Amino acid sequence: MNLAVIGLQFGDEGKGKIVDYLSPRFNIIARYCGGSNAGHTVIHNGKDYKLHLVPSGVLQGKIGVLGNGMVIDPITLRDEVSFLRDEGFKTEIFISSKAHVVTPLHREMDAIEERKRNIGTTKRGIGPAYETKVKRVGIRVADLLDRDLVFKKLTLISMLWDLKREEKELKKMAVELHSIGLEFKEQIVDTEMYLLNAMDSGKSVLFEGAQGFMLDIDFGTYPYVTSSHTSALGISPGLGIPFRRIDRILGVAKVYTTRVGEGPFPTELHGEFADMLREKGKEYGATTGRPRRVGWLDLPMLRYATRINDVDEIALTKADVLSELPQVSVAMEYLCDGRIYPYPPPYVERCKVKYITMPGWKNLEDNSFRNYVELIEKNTGAKVTIISYGPKRGDTMEL
Ligand code: IMP
Repeated sequence: MNLAVIGLQFGDEGKGKIVDYLSPRFNIIARYCGGSNAGHTVIHNGKDYKLHLVPSGVLQGKIGVLGNGMVIDPITLRDEVSFLRDEGFKTEIFISSKAHVVTPLHREMDAIEERKRNIGTTKRGIGPAYETKVKRVGIRVADLLDRDLVFKKLTLISMLWDLKREEKELKKMAVELHSIGLEFKEQIVDTEMYLLNAMDSGKSVLFEGAQGFMLDIDFGTYPYVTSSHTSALGISPGLGIPFRRIDRILGVAKVYTTRVGEGPFPTELHGEFADMLREKGKEYGATTGRPRRVGWLDLPMLRYATRINDVDEIALTKADVLSELPQVSVAMEYLCDGRIYPYPPPYVERCKVKYITMPGWKNLEDNSFRNYVELIEKNTGAKVTIISYGPKRGDTMEL
């Protein structure tokens, strides 16, 4: 059985923990989108690990695959892998020869673009790496094995973006990127064939999503999105896996909503209550350390996400953070331009939110928590099968 684990909100739903929890049931853990903008926090033997590129399952000794749909910063990858190996993790990974490379030029461009249009990116060069990919001037991971080719492409990118980098500097950059390519030479493979062959021989794969559905380039709150297909629909192009090989989809959602960076957030809370929730939920970005914006659960978004991703089951996370409140609110519908929407229309920033209020719960055995779960199930058509109520692996309950 091959399972996809997808974030249903704006990222940071706790996918890292859920993937880590489920990893023992799979042979291979494969990522298909994004790059080091992701920050997957996993606790192992009491220690916090924040993974950016390596799939979360490697902490459980599983094989990790970095798919062609990703954009990979070789410097970050080298540092992350050597850190994990120093920590005693075997860190067996395969990197797609066709994935695109993030270079210091991409990072510079991300910073330049941000100054002009403020999306609140992670400044990890993600958007620019997808830009050079689509412009057909990008550097692919396989190119790293050819120093002259890397130099030629860096020169072209620098010229197209008018970055005015000196030849000497670009040569130095090419040498470093090439040397990392050589370090990973044995791991650079055609991961699509590797995965298909592995599946044919009975191995199971967990597809690890990054970011969240509402940051999807097509279905998210454009333009305040990331530059990849974060939805389950992105697995096929992002890994070269035919649709029919994905057997089940598990969506991960927090019992409330958070967002880092700019962009519309209809259920956002402000003031003291928001601060309390942020502190209780330790809502600070794993990659940038930025405080996350916090808000109530948004059912129009969850309905949309479960529909488009064809979610079979849901893992609810951070269930403990909302406990001990006298009451909780849930967004049921949006009211935009005189119409009621059960799911997000293209301009959610124009919408007002219709809420219902429910009694809070003391602990997760309370009826009011059960009602909250049932409300989610009724509105999404997906069954809640996992509840996470703390950061440790053990703080997880299967229903
Ligand atoms: P980018 O992916 O760095 O281009 O950033 C685009 C938007 O996506 C910004 O609002 C980021 O804060 C957000 N973002 C990117 N990756 C993540 C993630 O892993 N979790 C949460 N938000 C993210």
